[in-house]
Amino acid sequence: MSVHSSASVKRVTTHTLQEMKLRGEKISMLTAYDFSMAKIVDEAGMDIILVGDSASNVMAGHETTLPITLDQMIYHASAVVRAVKRSFVVVDIPFGSYQGNSTEALRSAIRIMKESGAHAVKVEGGSEIKESVIRILSAGVPVMGHLGLTPQSIYKFGTYTVRAKEESEAAKLLEDAKILEECGCFAIVLEKIPASLAKKVAEAVSIPVIGIGAGPHVDGQVLVMHDMLGITQEFKPRFLRQYADLQKTMLDAFQQYITDVKNRDFPTDRESY
Ligand code: KIV
Repeated sequence: MSVHSSASVKRVTTHTLQEMKLRGEKISMLTAYDFSMAKIVDEAGMDIILVGDSASNVMAGHETTLPITLDQMIYHASAVVRAVKRSFVVVDIPFGSYQGNSTEALRSAIRIMKESGAHAVKVEGGSEIKESVIRILSAGVPVMGHLGLTPQSIYKFGTYTVRAKEESEAAKLLEDAKILEECGCFAIVLEKIPASLAKKVAEAVSIPVIGIGAGPHVDGQVLVMHDMLGITQEFKPRFLRQYADLQKTMLDAFQQYITDVKNRDFPTDRESY
């Protein structure tokens, strides 16, 4: 069923998301990187579409999110924005485009907003990027934070295992969440941390907290599209629920097409002019 059946579509805004937290209504968020997929995700009624730097992995085939560039993120984001009628579109500022200083961060955020038409940006980190977050917000650009497992710092962590299991790291994460809220972030993503800590964070801040591998006691959930559709089969962490097996469906379709071509079954007279 499409949520766009009526002529006037009510767009999701930061205000809508804040109200959803207040009402206790869970927020749905999924990644998308291109026009055709974003159109379907928006039609389905997703609250937030994240143009994640996971595009570096699932679209470009890189091992990490580090190589994707600001220009490439803007290319993906503008395709998504062209498809969307209702969802709130958030774009990751890629590695190396905001960590240097707050002027660089602001310049990157403005390029994303101006050139793609997106509605907000997302950045990874807490106190260490506070100045950049404040500077971006001062230009009127909504910012979503991202704490816990932050894939842009993978070479610092060395592994993709659960973060903040130790008391000191958990305390810093909670403190960082409060700092991001104080700065004015409209929401925070928590990735791969214990469910009990995520619950504590969601209760401690008044802005929506969206989890990925952070348990059920947060204000919403986010997944990477290619993982939840089963297009990628190599990546199966415990937190991932696979809603389809599109790799099999697509393989079957491609193989059937090859067979039909080889056997001269395609095209038939009815499929010819
Ligand atoms: O890039 C991405 O897809 C993300 C999600 C995992 C939250 O940041």
